[in-house]
Amino acid sequence: MVSEVLHWLAVRPGGVYVDATLGYGGHGEAVLRASSPDGVLLGMDRDGEAISYSRGRLKTFGDRFRCRQGSYTDLPDFLASEGVNNVNGLLADFGLSSAQLDQPGRGFSFRHDAPLDMRFDQSAGVSAREYLSTADEEELARVLFEYGEVRGSRRIARAIVEARQRGAMNTTADLLRAVERVLKPPRKGMGVHPATLVFQAIRIAVNGELDAVRALLARLPEPLGPGGRAVFLTFHSLEDRMVKQRLRELSGRVPRDPWSSGEQAAPSMNELTRKPVGASAGEVRNNPRARSAWLRAAERLSPVEN
Ligand SMILES: C[S@@+](CC[C@H](N)C(=O)[O-])C[C@H]1O[C@@H](n2cnc3c(N)ncnc32)[C@H](O)[C@@H]1O
Repeated sequence: MVSEVLHWLAVRPGGVYVDATLGYGGHGEAVLRASSPDGVLLGMDRDGEAISYSRGRLKTFGDRFRCRQGSYTDLPDFLASEGVNNVNGLLADFGLSSAQLDQPGRGFSFRHDAPLDMRFDQSAGVSAREYLSTADEEELARVLFEYGEVRGSRRIARAIVEARQRGAMNTTADLLRAVERVLKPPRKGMGVHPATLVFQAIRIAVNGELDAVRALLARLPEPLGPGGRAVFLTFHSLEDRMVKQRLRELSGRVPRDPWSSGEQAAPSMNELTRKPVGASAGEVRNNPRARSAWLRAAERLSPVEN
């Protein structure tokens, strides 16, 4: 959704932009081109490989591009270290990239047999194998149900626990087998394999993705300057709901709580997209994964409007 991102970010020459989920630099490169000759892009990503790739890809932009490996929850620290007080635009494209999904060794997909890792940052935290070997059955069932809306979540959680008791929960193939013990795979070309949602749910849990999204949203309207834009791309209804609610709150569009004695905060942002914007038909034709992408945008009000 590159053209939609550029449109809603209102990218212009000389602007300073943050790509909080730089990935392999696709959106980043488009922002740098559209803000030529002197716009600046500051990029973050938890994935060290993605950061190295983007460093190479965006080298030609010289000093206009700076990046750091880390979570966007550390964005204030990154901006302070770059001497930046506020920015003209912030982009966050949540979830994982196609490049990560397709990388055989990362354990994100059941299409390649690999150790169960699934961490965005492979140098820190707990891998999916460790997570699945310690989480209790109740928690597993909850994660599958809440983060993947997985049918048969309790039975799959049970199958995972049984497999780990036999020492057989180490690879993506082991997890796939546990899922298929409970739910039959669809016939070729007929619908989504149930393991897709199971892998998604476990990835979200392993990376604490929803907590990170919540923390980033809680900081808004920082780090935007007056008129600065925030653009969010989500692939998951839970993330989309979190973005929608927060933008409504910041725009003063949440009904006042009649039981609250406190003052309602004045609106600090204007929600620009009342409905989420989807990918164009052409993009979905070229990249079917774009079908589930939703974009929302908001603009920081200037102090007089506040
Ligand atoms: C959908 S991809 C972004 C793709 C990117 N827009 C592009 O054009 O290539 C999401 C990226 O967010 C990263 N990510 C996930 N959680 C993160 C976090 N808390 N902080 C920073 N990056 C994160 C992932 O490693 C992944 O590279």
